Amino acid sequence: MKEIYLRAPATTANVGPGYDIFALTLQNPFDEVKLQLNDSKRITIDIINDRNNIPIDVPNNTAGLAILELLKRKNIQIGVNVQINKKMPSGCGLGTTGASAAACVFGLDKLLELGLSENEMIDIARMGEVASGGSPHADNVAAALLGGFILVKSYDPVDVLKLKIPEFPVVLAIMQKNQRTTRGFITYNIGEEKLKEQIAHCSSVIHAIHTKDIKEFGKAVSVDYVAEPIRGATIPGYNDAKKCIINAGAYGCNISGGGSSVIAICDEEKQNEIKNIMENCFMDNPLFIKIIKTKTCNIGIKEID
Ligand code: HSE
Repeated sequence: MKEIYLRAPATTANVGPGYDIFALTLQNPFDEVKLQLNDSKRITIDIINDRNNIPIDVPNNTAGLAILELLKRKNIQIGVNVQINKKMPSGCGLGTTGASAAACVFGLDKLLELGLSENEMIDIARMGEVASGGSPHADNVAAALLGGFILVKSYDPVDVLKLKIPEFPVVLAIMQKNQRTTRGFITYNIGEEKLKEQIAHCSSVIHAIHTKDIKEFGKAVSVDYVAEPIRGATIPGYNDAKKCIINAGAYGCNISGGGSSVIAICDEEKQNEIKNIMENCFMDNPLFIKIIKTKTCNIGIKEID
């Protein structure tokens, strides 16, 4: 039986102002995905550890949907057994569903020797995201697949640019969303002035990565007029917490992906202080899970033993 084991990292999408076009990869946490081929022509999904709210029926699971898309596009009939060892909390804006979808496409490309391009793998894997957020956004799957910082330059056709990112220290307050997705409430009607600022901050994010400037990076990441106002309003105490985090010396703070986790960028020596502030601010939220200290990184999905 042909099989492959993969490590699929957490990603944080939007990175402040880049709604649906920016994402970056984190050193920790990560899931492990095992794929096995068989002749049954059936797809099965098995989740170890956190079965919390994750559907395992194939069309309602991001990994399942991505596999269906790949097999349909390539006209392949084969059985696939997926086992996801969940090591990261789901439904928190860490790109866990995208990581599983991207791992399945990456793994099947290898096992079936399809020779898919990176953009093609991203385009297939993003279709899996429909199962979780109702929209085929490419940011998380691209960052999981390629590692580093991702700019989705185009959606039609999918064209993704990967930038090597310095190892910026990150602190995450992991919180689950109180609803499946808030995407439906997000509007692009932010007015001319804010639109100009949003574009300027997106450009600053890219410039700061090129110049390895954590201060400029953090400042630009802290601004978002599109998703943050909607999602921030669903996180109790978010605005005050963000002020405390920045006042304590973090360079930047915003919501990770679709939320409700909150991400801060700071120096390594500040990580413990930011952790304590986040704990104080969010501890009473019943959807708060834990704090994770990690770093941005350039390693995407990879094969493990
Ligand atoms: N760009 C997506 C969103 C990421 O903001 O909904 C979801 O993690």
